[in-house]
Amino acid sequence: MGAFVHGGWKVGTIYTVNVHPEARGRGLGKRLLATIERRLAREGCLRVVLQVHVDNRAAIALYEGAGYERLRLLRNYYQVYDPPHAYLYGKPIPE
Ligand SMILES: CC(C)(COP(=O)(O)OP(=O)(O)OC[C@H]1O[C@@H](n2cnc3c(N)ncnc32)[C@H](O)[C@@H]1OP(=O)(O)O)[C@@H](O)C(=O)NCCC(=O)NCCS
Repeated sequence: MGAFVHGGWKVGTIYTVNVHPEARGRGLGKRLLATIERRLAREGCLRVVLQVHVDNRAAIALYEGAGYERLRLLRNYYQVYDPPHAYLYGKPIPE
């Protein structure tokens, strides 16, 4: 799990949520996501954004299930994946 707080904008970016393959499907991803959201809220963030590869169905289901909204397609976001596109997702954090 990795996140960054853009102080002045009150926006946090989650860079990745990663669960060991043998531990997937047991709710850990959901708990990790909720934990980092609480941490970002404590840091004063009012919004969280993240990028996810367009074919990453498990991660997209995790994020949408947690209330993230697809904001836009980021064309050619990645250099190493085919297709190289990502979706930008966002979610407000209640004050
Ligand atoms: C995405 C990832 C973090 C999910 O972690 P996880 O611990 O398996 O997820 P959870 O068990 O908490 O599941 C939460 C929700 O995610 C969705 N989900 C998880 N695995 C899924 C799969 N294989 N297919 C479809 N949906 C899936 C489901 O909606 C699930 O909710 P539900 O159990 O109520 O149906 C994990 O698959 C992973 O580490 N993937 C590789 C790394 C990665 O791609 N990270 C995202 C980078 S942006």
